[in-house]
Amino acid sequence: MSSPQVEVLLEPDWAAAALVADVRRGLAQQPRRLPPKWLYDTAGSDLFDRITRLPSYYPTEAERSVLVERAGEIAAASGATTVVELGSGTSDKTRQLLDAFAEAGALERFVPVDVSETTLRDAADMLSARYPDTEVEAIVGDFTLHLGHLARYDRKLVVFLGGTIGNLYVEERAAFLGALSDSMSPSDGLLLGTDLVKDADRLIAAYDDPEGVTEEFVKNGLRVLNRELGADFEPEAFGYVPFWDSRQKRMDLRLRAEVPQHVRVPGADLEIDLAAGEEIRMEISTKFTRERIADELAAVGLTVADQWTDPAGDFAVTLATKV
Ligand code: SAH
Ligand code: TRP
Repeated sequence: MSSPQVEVLLEPDWAAAALVADVRRGLAQQPRRLPPKWLYDTAGSDLFDRITRLPSYYPTEAERSVLVERAGEIAAASGATTVVELGSGTSDKTRQLLDAFAEAGALERFVPVDVSETTLRDAADMLSARYPDTEVEAIVGDFTLHLGHLARYDRKLVVFLGGTIGNLYVEERAAFLGALSDSMSPSDGLLLGTDLVKDADRLIAAYDDPEGVTEEFVKNGLRVLNRELGADFEPEAFGYVPFWDSRQKRMDLRLRAEVPQHVRVPGADLEIDLAAGEEIRMEISTKFTRERIADELAAVGLTVADQWTDPAGDFAVTLATKV
């Protein structure tokens, strides 16, 4: 069996240093906020995996249905020999695509990129067993920092699924797309999965399951701070508040202090006072229209070649090329 190559671009103290900087900046803002990549430690990645199997969390199955339907077409249209996947997680849905590329006999290399090292290594092992003729070159890296490393692959299709792009703020998203476009040449493609604007009730249900898995996932962010920075957040003292921000077109996922709290974060040399009712934004999840996707891609020199949705029109998968 071939074994995967794993390249670690994150410095050994990356988690510590970057987390401290993010926490100091984020907890000083109003509303206080934390960047989403810290939700995905090993426990968080497992909870996310459970979210993808919740009946109310429609995006995973909607996106999968598009990939099942269109994988052959995408593989043929892209002509890529390398598939790069950003925020790859378990690469579960990606197998639809990799199967189609493998069948066409064109796939030389698969490059999954994720900050979550354990999840990435497990996925890389599984994938190199499944695709013995494909080199699996996993990268432990941050897609907001390390896109420059992708320029070395030519004839590539960059895949970014799960609506993860919607977890970036609008200015972060523009910077991300600009850097991504810079790492691409005219023979490269982008396959982007985005959740679409829809009825607020369905959106809220997708982020507020009765089993409480999503709440646990979001609260796990506080546990990461307790463990990594010696903080003394009490996750049980917070209520989970997911709401639809109709102006910004995004889900806003917050934790609300039920009682006044004094929280120490020694690893970040920080102490904060939370008033009763004060909220911390743990994540946003922006929802798009098909036009907005095309416009944001066009702004960085990427042109939509094709765009598909699931039959219900809930979720879009866009294939773009560099002009
Ligand atoms: N692509 C999968 C997983 C989505 S969850 C799917 O569609 O189901 C988001 C994934 O992105 C997680 O695995 C998380 O660890 C990773 N991630 C989040 N922020 C990241 C960042 N800045 N750089 C690299 N990976 C990141
Ligand atoms: N990319 C996923 C999304 O925006 C991440 C996600 C799913 C998520 N459920 C969540 C993030 C709950 C925070 C809380 O849908």
